[in-house]
Amino acid sequence: MSNEPVRVWMAMDPEQGRMLLVVNRVPVGTLSSVGGQIALNIDPEYAGLRDDLTKYCGSVFANMPDTLRAALYEAPGFMTNTAGRDAMEALAADRKRRVHLGCGPDVRPGWLNIDYQPGAALGYNTATSFLNYDLRQGLPGLEDGSVDMFFSSHFFEHLRHEEAMNLMQQCRRALRDDGMARFQMPDFKGTFRAYVDDDQAFFDTAVSTHKILDHMPAYAHNYADLVSRSVYEFYTHKYIWDPDNLSKALGAAGFSDVKLDAYAADLDHPSSLRRDYSYYLVARP
Ligand SMILES: C[S@@+](CC[C@H](N)C(=O)[O-])C[C@H]1O[C@@H](n2cnc3c(N)ncnc32)[C@H](O)[C@@H]1O
Repeated sequence: MSNEPVRVWMAMDPEQGRMLLVVNRVPVGTLSSVGGQIALNIDPEYAGLRDDLTKYCGSVFANMPDTLRAALYEAPGFMTNTAGRDAMEALAADRKRRVHLGCGPDVRPGWLNIDYQPGAALGYNTATSFLNYDLRQGLPGLEDGSVDMFFSSHFFEHLRHEEAMNLMQQCRRALRDDGMARFQMPDFKGTFRAYVDDDQAFFDTAVSTHKILDHMPAYAHNYADLVSRSVYEFYTHKYIWDPDNLSKALGAAGFSDVKLDAYAADLDHPSSLRRDYSYYLVARP
């Protein structure tokens, strides 16, 4: 390379689903994620740049504001990786291959538990079988037909419609033919019905038992405030799914058998809050 000032670019290559590393307009390698950690793959021709580029990229990622990092992670393909596949292999082979999407604090032994905690180290913790991974990018490299069960509770409404559809399609592909995906979902329709009916018992349970307006000032303890909290969930909800549109979406994603189900104590999130505001869908290939 010439003596011109060194400029490093990270550029998306959406067709290949990877991030290119470009120095002074010359592509010198790619960035990928191995086990959830960023790795540099420098072309042998430019091996001499490896140390400097490692330092440079490390400092860029370490110092970038969370919002920018989050925006980067949203770029399609940026984290295409094998983290999930490696994590599955780390789970004992004789266990069922079960994947818990958007697990939050409900990390279950024997499952691959996935949740995204921006700012914490990405990657897999073998001790807890927890993978810090952004599911907006789809599944983390799980192989087709390799999973017995997907479970999620109050998670899919946190994705945009297109992200949710992408994930549903990938879940279908990753499921074995005799596998199933179980969705514990917020019952928005029940909340809207209660609101329109001015259902006082529903309001009292939400406010007195579940304390869902405790964070709000007294003047904001009204029905519309309750509905806002349920529907927007501190502005983290992105889409409303009811049994009707979710069943059709799952059908479009390739599931052929989708049914409403009752609460299942061995699988569903057991808290009274979840139990009071959930419906359950089971989807099979
Ligand atoms: C309402 S909580 C549900 C947690 C738990 N499943 C439960 O029922 O209590 C939604 C969860 O989705 C996770 N989440 C939101 N967006 C995500 C993403 N893009 N990738 C992975 N997890 C995500 C959040 O971190 C949070 O833990």
